Amino acid sequence: MKSDLIHTTVLLHESIDGLDIHPGDIYLDGTLGSAGHMSYALEKMHGDITVVGLDRDVEALERSEQRLSPYKSMANGKVHVPKIILRESSYGDIDKVVNELASELGKDKINRFMLDLGLSSDQFETSGRGFTFKNDEPLLMTFKKNLQEGDLTAQQIVNTWEEGNIADIIFGYGEEKYSRRIARAIVNYREKKAIETTSELVEIITHSVPGFYRRGRLHPATRTFQALRIAVNDELNTLKKGLVKGFERLEKGGRIAVISFHSLEDRIVKNFNKEKADAGEAIIITKRPIVPTEKEVLDNPRSRSAKLRILEKK
Ligand SMILES: C[S@@+](CC[C@H](N)C(=O)[O-])C[C@H]1O[C@@H](n2cnc3c(N)ncnc32)[C@H](O)[C@@H]1O
Repeated sequence: MKSDLIHTTVLLHESIDGLDIHPGDIYLDGTLGSAGHMSYALEKMHGDITVVGLDRDVEALERSEQRLSPYKSMANGKVHVPKIILRESSYGDIDKVVNELASELGKDKINRFMLDLGLSSDQFETSGRGFTFKNDEPLLMTFKKNLQEGDLTAQQIVNTWEEGNIADIIFGYGEEKYSRRIARAIVNYREKKAIETTSELVEIITHSVPGFYRRGRLHPATRTFQALRIAVNDELNTLKKGLVKGFERLEKGGRIAVISFHSLEDRIVKNFNKEKADAGEAIIITKRPIVPTEKEVLDNPRSRSAKLRILEKK
């Protein structure tokens, strides 16, 4: 188990303070990661809270388990002991999880729902599952560590999908202008040998784009890697599903906070919030998305593209 955390939590106070958690609330964190947001929620509520943390990645759950253990022994007579429940699950299945936990929670509803999308720096740098083009790793890109038959991997996409479909996801999810060239090069390469590692894919991409692009500010593989990760984990559909189901499970007056990192995700959240507000079912708390301060971006460049939106159920 890795205990040194690499990930720095983004928009920590803005999101947890904005959720306006009340004593005794059930707070569900759908993207637990290293429990950065959850730890602050526990501290802020002095333990008078029930927290449920979900992650698809067992390593994230292990890191969180370790980080949260001090909160389980807060019984010093002055503060409450929180109920802490962690589960390996996708937040897209929030309804099933809440049903399964109903007797423990005392209800099949929650009061606060937090999503901090994408992957953590720990996964990026140390998972060994091919999220980064900087390391030579198997090309998997799954949030889930323990793969089962039928789970999609990036290897399957690049080695078995039709050229047009590969180009479409690289363009659609990566907004990569050389998507067609890259898809063509992938298909040419795999005719000779299956693509198995990040290094092979980086080489294919690097050789297929023009020289000026290769030498540009952004590494030429950045957008393709992002696109493959989004496709492998079905991230956009999961977000749509998670918002619908999470909203259904919110108590009246309950809030959802979502931190997104690229425009496709932010658009989904923005449209969902607007639909609910237009239908008179919710109030938009953040008229404009909250973004990190200059200081946060300086301290943690990964926060640069973050946008936080908060919605309250009527
Ligand atoms: C940006 S990190 C969260 C960091 C966390 N807020 C913190 O401060 O420590 C995102 C986490 O969400 C997880 N994740 C991504 N998609 C998921 C899904 N559909 N269901 C559950 N967890 C997911 C990833 O495995 C990752 O650990």
